Amino acid sequence: MKTGRGKPLGALVLALALFGCAREEASRAEAVDKTSEILVGEYGSMTGPEASFGQGTHNGIILALDEINAGGGVKGRKIKVITEDDQSRPDQAASAVTKLISQHRVVAILGAAASSNSLAGAPICQSNKVPMITPGSTNPEVTKKGDYIFRTCFIDPYQGEALAKYIANDLKLRRAAILRDVSSDYSMGLANVFRQTFVSLGGEIVAEQSYSKGDSDFRAQLTGLKSSRMEVLFVPGYYTDIGQIAIQARDLGIQHPLMGGDGWDSPRLIEIGGEALEGSFYTNHHHADDPAPSVRNFVDKYRKRHGYDPDGGAALGYDSMKLLASAMRRAASLDGPTLRDEIARTREFAGVTGVITMGPDRNPLNKKFVVLEVKNGRLALRAAIEPLAGSADGSEQKSQ
Ligand code: PHE
Repeated sequence: MKTGRGKPLGALVLALALFGCAREEASRAEAVDKTSEILVGEYGSMTGPEASFGQGTHNGIILALDEINAGGGVKGRKIKVITEDDQSRPDQAASAVTKLISQHRVVAILGAAASSNSLAGAPICQSNKVPMITPGSTNPEVTKKGDYIFRTCFIDPYQGEALAKYIANDLKLRRAAILRDVSSDYSMGLANVFRQTFVSLGGEIVAEQSYSKGDSDFRAQLTGLKSSRMEVLFVPGYYTDIGQIAIQARDLGIQHPLMGGDGWDSPRLIEIGGEALEGSFYTNHHHADDPAPSVRNFVDKYRKRHGYDPDGGAALGYDSMKLLASAMRRAASLDGPTLRDEIARTREFAGVTGVITMGPDRNPLNKKFVVLEVKNGRLALRAAIEPLAGSADGSEQKSQ
C-alpha cells in the first residue's frame, strides 16, 4: 500500500491478527491445562541414612495417588507427583524444594520426613505461597515456619509427654537416662520434652549423653550411662543409629530396655539391631497389625503393591496425599492461597493414622498413637494410647 492511510490500516490488520493468534493461543493453553495433569511436588530422603523414611513415605503417597487417579483424579484432571531426593540432607532439601517450585511450578508440596530437612524446605514454600504438608516431621518448629506449612502427624511435645507418662505412670519407672543426637532437631526436641515431663511426674534423669549423625561407635557414651542407676534408656534417634546403639549396649552388658520415638520405625530397625532390640519399645503413628477395617484394607493394598508391611512413614504418606486431594476437590481454584485455606479447613478426615482435624497451628488435633515392642524378632503392639486431650497441637499443650 502506497497511501498514507495504508500504514495504520496495515498495522491494525496485523494487530488484530496477532490478537486473534494470542486469543487462540490462550484458549488452547486453557484446554491443555484442563486436560493436563496437576503437578504436586514431593521431597524426601530416597537415599542416605534416613532412606527408609523417604521410601516408605513415597510408597504410601504413590498408593494413594493411584487410587485418586483411578477414581478420576481431581477437578477432572489426573495428579502427577514429581519426586526429588533430599539425600537425607537439609541443604539438598532446600534445593529440592526450590526446583519443585521454580522449575516444575507444583501447586503443593509433600515432605519431608526428618524434621531437620523439613525445617530447611518449609521457609521456601512459605515465601512462595506454596502449601506444604509434611507427613512425618514431628518437631514443633516445622509448622511455625508459616501459615502455608501443615503436617499430618502428631508433634513431639505430644509424643514425648505421652511416652514420659507411660514410663512413669504405667511402668512405674523412676530413673531414666538419655542418649540423644545433637545434630538432629527431632532428637533434641524430643529429649527436651521427655526430660521435662518425666521430671514433673517425679522421675529423675540420672545420666545424659550425646552423639552426632554419622557416628558409629557409641561405646564411650554407653559406658558413661552404664554406671548410672538408670532403669530405662531413652534414645530419641533414627533407626540406623538405634540398631548399632542396641548392639553395643548389650556388648557392654547393659540389660535395660531401650525406648524411643517414631524415628525408630523402619523395616531396617530389626534387620540392623536384631536380638539386641528384644524388649525395647517406641511410640509410633501406626501398627501394621491394627485390626481397624480401614487399616486392614490399607495394609493389604500396600503389601500387594510393595511386597512388605507399611511403616509409619508409609501410612502418613498415604494420609497426606489423600488429605491434599480432598482439599483440592473442595478448593474453588488451585492457587496457593485458596488451596492453603482449604487444607486449613480440614475437619475429621478419616485417615489410616487416625482422624485428622487441623488445629489452629496447622498441626492435627488429638491424634492417637501406639507403643510398639520388639518381641521375638517382630514388632508387637504393646499399648494403644488414646489421644491426650487437645495436646497433639502444641497450642493447647498444658503443663501439669
Ligand atoms: N518424626 C521424625 C522427625 O521428625 C521423622 C519420621 C518420619 C519418623 C516418618 C518416622 C516416620 O524427624
